[in-house]
Amino acid sequence: MKKIGILTGGGDCPGLNAVIRAVVRKSSRYKWATIGIRNGWRGLIDGDMIPISDRHVSGILPKGGTILGTSRTNPFKHQEDVGKIIENIKKFKIDAIVAIGGEDTLGVALKLHNMGIPIVGVPKTIDNDLSGTDFTFGFDTAISIVTEAIDRLHTTAESHHRVIVLEVMGRHAGWIATIAGIAGGADEILIPEKPFDLNLVCKSLKARYNGGKTFSIVVASEGAKPKETDKPSTLTEEKDAFGHVRLGGIGNFLGKEIGKRLGVETRVTVLGHVQRGGTPTAYDRVLATRFGIAAVELLKDGNYGKMVALKGNKIVSVGLEEAVSELKTVDMELYDIAKVFFGKVEIEELVDNLS
Ligand code: F6P
Repeated sequence: MKKIGILTGGGDCPGLNAVIRAVVRKSSRYKWATIGIRNGWRGLIDGDMIPISDRHVSGILPKGGTILGTSRTNPFKHQEDVGKIIENIKKFKIDAIVAIGGEDTLGVALKLHNMGIPIVGVPKTIDNDLSGTDFTFGFDTAISIVTEAIDRLHTTAESHHRVIVLEVMGRHAGWIATIAGIAGGADEILIPEKPFDLNLVCKSLKARYNGGKTFSIVVASEGAKPKETDKPSTLTEEKDAFGHVRLGGIGNFLGKEIGKRLGVETRVTVLGHVQRGGTPTAYDRVLATRFGIAAVELLKDGNYGKMVALKGNKIVSVGLEEAVSELKTVDMELYDIAKVFFGKVEIEELVDNLS
């Protein structure tokens, strides 16, 4: 091995720089050179690269974002882009690639691996919805930010006797809403995996008021959807290169409906990209560092087509197919724990709503 290319693709995420630093430092121990591919797959198509060495990664461990830049480029949308990738790999004499990304970036990595390009993946996403790994780095930071937001919303909701709806990220999976909701003591958590019945949500909130509570916190994933439509709220129908629309609006929908149906003052907070920005937690820095080191070890062993993963407390590797074949949705045992703290709806009402 002589030269490793590193890239970060998809939405940014706290801990990306910690992975880059670990890959560069560990590679230099093996006397391998590293080259930074700028803006995800875009950089490999355009030949936009920067040499990256120990001195470039000095001080980046606590920094959010990615020093390499990122994009949601899908080279398989235009076949000529795949040809350019192959040319640039030769031109820049790249021997192997470390791709740091979520399902889309690693889906591209798998296709390139199947074409014979030496590549390994590192799982990144604040959504924690990548299969094959217990956790992705970035998730811990996101849930810390959301938990703090819920704590802050609690005091103001309580003072004003309001319902506050908090919309959080989570396109297909409600990990952020569920875990931060449990940590922050949310009174209702709505996730994409469980389309909700608005009547029941309102009844459950009403039950809290009947029980003497004068405020409520509702946490909703951006991908949460009402049973009737089974469709998430979207900001625009325009799709990105991987076919995703931009989600958003469920918080405002819920705020309006809950306020109207309950006759209680309601406010909405949409947390947005605050969840993805800024410095990673200690946990994410360590996980990202362990992933980076393990990715270099995979390259050393010629173990291509794999993604490093966390299983229990151990870093292991899984095939890229396993990582991208299906999304990891919320464990319903965990959601059942969250539900214990929702308002109590009488059994007869649940039966009425089921029939
Ligand atoms: O990275 C995943 C994610 O955080 C999703 O939860 C969200 O839908 C998406 O990114 C939004 O990203 P952007 O606004 O950068 O397109």
